[in-house]
Amino acid sequence: MLEASYVSLAAVGFRAARAAGDHIITRYRTELVVETKSSLADVVTDVDRACEEAIRRTLSEAFDTHRILGEEGVRPGREAAVEALEGCVDCEDLWIVDPLDGTTNFVHQLPLSVISIAYARAGEVRFGVILDPYRDEWFYALRGEGAYAAGGEDIRAWLESPSARWPGKPIRVSGVRELRRAVMATGLPVRHRHRQQVMHRAADVISEVKSLRTLGAAALHLAYVAAGRIDVFWEFDLNAWDLAAGALLVQEAGGVIQSMRGEPYALGVRDVCAGSDGELLRTLGARLTAD
Ligand code: IPD
Ligand code: CA
Ligand code: CA
Ligand code: CA
Repeated sequence: MLEASYVSLAAVGFRAARAAGDHIITRYRTELVVETKSSLADVVTDVDRACEEAIRRTLSEAFDTHRILGEEGVRPGREAAVEALEGCVDCEDLWIVDPLDGTTNFVHQLPLSVISIAYARAGEVRFGVILDPYRDEWFYALRGEGAYAAGGEDIRAWLESPSARWPGKPIRVSGVRELRRAVMATGLPVRHRHRQQVMHRAADVISEVKSLRTLGAAALHLAYVAAGRIDVFWEFDLNAWDLAAGALLVQEAGGVIQSMRGEPYALGVRDVCAGSDGELLRTLGARLTAD
């Protein structure tokens, strides 16, 4: 039997993700209202806001006492994000929402954006879903119950009659433990003054890997690590909403996600490495942060 408390979390989380996914598909390649936030590289559209609104509505109709930390409900910039998380990290029931991860891709009509929704109880992520609405591909995980990939049809059928099984198929990380065999993914820090420093250190690491991808959506990178499609992912200065669902996916898929200093992932971690092997990630983190 499926754990009853997880069934209602997953059902509501799936519905919320689908509502946002429908918005993204409807508005893809239509005229957008685009505004900049903390810098020219940090943009938001009316679709990000509409997606967050749809997610909030679905979550709060189902769970009226739960708190919601959503990217577009927080003032731009790092300080405000840290403060907003501190204000709710210990909440009994907290939803952490990136309504549209990969906004730059969306604005540039690159079909690489996802919705990321996580539920945490007293600071521990218990459920996470990442939806790629273009492929109708769903990645989700429940703490202690595994990580799965499912098609939209599987999710629809399950929502109509939640059965004894979770929808879709279990996923696993790739098991790759060496940089020279790894497809690595990363993203550019939003803050320009960090870029040179980060890219300078990264050059050395990147020259060793089998190949490099930068898909422009941190949550998609993490879902792909969990599914064994990308071997190693690292990035600096991410927010809880970029990471929470993907972190649980990686862990439940048998992988490791940790800070650059090798500390286990927690909601406040902003600089992360994820993959199949903690030791490889620890060395990688040390190289990427060396003075
Ligand atoms: C961004 C994406 C991008 C990453 C940035 C994030 P957003 O999120 O995940 O890949 O490099 O650091 O801020 O703003 O598109 O939700
Ligand atoms: Ca953003
Ligand atoms: Ca994001
Ligand atoms: Ca976003």
